[in-house]
Amino acid sequence: IGVALKDGPLSGKRILVTSGPTHEPIDPVRYIANRSSGAQGTAIAQALVALGADVIFVTGPADVDPPKGVELHKVESAKDMLAAVASALPVDAAVFAAAVADWRVASASGSKIKKQADGALPVLEFAENPDILATISQMGQGRPGLVVGFAAETDDVIAHATAKRARKGCDWIVANDVSPETGIMGGSENAVTLISDAGAEDWPRMGKDEVAAQLADRIADELRG
Ligand code: CTP
Ligand code: CA
Repeated sequence: IGVALKDGPLSGKRILVTSGPTHEPIDPVRYIANRSSGAQGTAIAQALVALGADVIFVTGPADVDPPKGVELHKVESAKDMLAAVASALPVDAAVFAAAVADWRVASASGSKIKKQADGALPVLEFAENPDILATISQMGQGRPGLVVGFAAETDDVIAHATAKRARKGCDWIVANDVSPETGIMGGSENAVTLISDAGAEDWPRMGKDEVAAQLADRIADELRG
C-alpha cells in the first residue's frame, strides 16, 4: 500500500530542477536561444535522484540526454517553462539551472518570414520574458523551502552574483565565471562559488558531476535542518 519510498537522505522530498536553454520562436522555422548544453542541470537532477529525491525535471531543448528516474517535462520557451514550474508546485526545494532567454520576439510570426525582393530587412521587436527564479523566490504561500539560483557571470563574479541573489530573493546562488579564458562554457568542468546568508564559499574546480554531487549533499543537509 502507498508508495515505496526510495532510500537516501532525500527520500520523500520533492525537488524541482530547471535545465537547458529556452528557444524563443521568431517564426515556424527560426528561434533565438541561449547557449547551454543542459549538462550541469542534468547532473544536479541525477545527483538528487541518487540521494532518493522525487525530481521534477523541467528542461528546454538540451544537447545532453535527460537524467533517468525523474518526472520529465520538456518545454521550448521561457513562458512554457514558467507554466511547467508553476504546475509542479508545491516542492520542498527548487534548483534553477536553466539558461532562460531574457527576451522573446514580441509577436512571433505564424508563417515563415520571407526575404524581400528589394532586400528590405526584417525588424524584430522584443519583449522581456518572465523571470522564473524571481517569481518563485518571491511567492508568499507555497514558496519552496529552499530556492537555489545560478549566476553565470564575467568580471566581478561575486559582486554580480551577490546582487543577483538579493534582487531575486533566492536562498542560494551558485556563481561561476564564464569568461572565455576559463574554458568553463561548454566544458565538462566547473568552478563555482556558493553564495548564501553564510557568505561566499569558493569550491575548487571540479567535474560538473562532482559539483552536482556536492550541491545535492548540501541540499540534503539543509532540508534535514
Ligand atoms: N532565470 C530565470 N528566468 C529568467 C532568467 C533567469 O529563472 N527569465 C534564472 C536562471 O535559471 C538562473 C538565474 O535566474 O538561476 C540567473 O540567471 P541570469 O541570466 O544570470 O540572471 P538575469 O536576471 O537574467 O541577469 P543577466 O542580465 O545577468 O542575464
Ligand atoms: Ca539572463
